Amino acid sequence: MKSFMVRPKVYFYDTVKEFAREFHLGQGDLLITNQFIYEPFLGGLDLDCQVIYQEKYGAGEPSDDMVEAMYKDVKKDYCRVIAMGGGTVIDIAKLFALKNVSPVLDLFDGKTAVEKDKELILIPTTCGTGSEVTNVAVLALNSRGTKKGLAQDAMYGDVAVLIPELVKSLPFRFFATSSIDALIHAVESSLSPKASSITRLFGYKAIEMILNGYKIIAAEGEDARYPLLNDFLTASLYAGISFGNAGCAAVHAMSYPIGSVFHVPHGESNYAMFTGVLNNYMEIKQDGEIEKLNQFIADILGCQLDQVYVELEKLLDQILPKKALHEYGMKEEQIEEFADSVIENQQRLLGNNFVFLDRDRLIKIYRELF
Ligand SMILES: NC(=O)c1ccc[n+]([C@@H]2O[C@H](COP(=O)([O-])OP(=O)(O)OC[C@H]3O[C@@H](n4cnc5c(N)ncnc54)[C@H](O)[C@@H]3O)[C@@H](O)[C@H]2O)c1
Ligand SMILES: [Fe+2]
Repeated sequence: MKSFMVRPKVYFYDTVKEFAREFHLGQGDLLITNQFIYEPFLGGLDLDCQVIYQEKYGAGEPSDDMVEAMYKDVKKDYCRVIAMGGGTVIDIAKLFALKNVSPVLDLFDGKTAVEKDKELILIPTTCGTGSEVTNVAVLALNSRGTKKGLAQDAMYGDVAVLIPELVKSLPFRFFATSSIDALIHAVESSLSPKASSITRLFGYKAIEMILNGYKIIAAEGEDARYPLLNDFLTASLYAGISFGNAGCAAVHAMSYPIGSVFHVPHGESNYAMFTGVLNNYMEIKQDGEIEKLNQFIADILGCQLDQVYVELEKLLDQILPKKALHEYGMKEEQIEEFADSVIENQQRLLGNNFVFLDRDRLIKIYRELF
């Protein structure tokens, strides 16, 4: 059985001010954001809402500890949650819209029911996670040394809002890591056994938009991204719709221990695993969806089919240079440890693999990328 759902209502605005006015931001709202976003875009509006700056609770991507620290500070009298930020801010905000937020580990362990209690408005300021349209929140569980996704329909936003002006201040490095994440969402979900003709409509379009954008940036330089931000934000949402329905798979699963243990940005740790996983799929099965996908990418890149991953990596390397896993601090003895952690913690994702990858295969992939 396959099904398809797009849950939140999606709004598009040219400016943050227009959004703030039309949504009447004010009393009863909990706004989770960053100071560097709040001040330039909302600072002059004298809003009467509770504002929480995520960066005060720790650097980097979200963890269970970060959510617990925030929970202590948040006044509990809010009825609407507004997230304006990257995937980090959005995933945290999804938890604050639930009836029971703390202990957050109990939510991830299935000990507490995941029940929606507040209206939830999600506004991305990066162009990668697609979290504004998915039912997933991902946290690093510090005590477990890995990241884990909580995927339940109660986690959907009620409203997603795209405002390209918010992405202008995103530094190139995070533009790169987030948009590569979106590309990988589109690729993994299009290869997933749960993909359908509808999810592939969104997934393949996202791949096309992102790779065509990268070709322009590779030729003209980093600043060439500015006129393309609307495309990248839209592609990220498309990829979110695709993976929100068909799921991500081994690239995400295998990148989680690296992201969590060595604090590598999500999109970067995904990129470290990306073509390594695809090459291994190809060693096992060369026909079916992967053949179509490779041809689609080869046509965009203008290369021979048998060179598609080499050329893809050449292009992506101009956006975000790929590193070997040992460069992040990984030790050889962690290869088996990480493979076992993936098998133990990431079955939700491994179930979406294009073909089954057993423990030996996971070890082989880590070793090849080491
Ligand atoms: N829930 C989902 O469906 C889903 C999907 C993919 C990834 N994720 C999660 O999302 C997180 C990564 O999110 P991300 O890639 O959006 O990065 P991020 O939110 O961690 O942001 C990256 C950096 O850019 C800064 N930043 C964000 N927007 C900015 C702006 N407009 N201007 C200046 N700086 C800005 C942030 O403060 C941060 O330092 C990871 O934890 C990942 O696991 C969730
Ligand atoms: Fe991702």
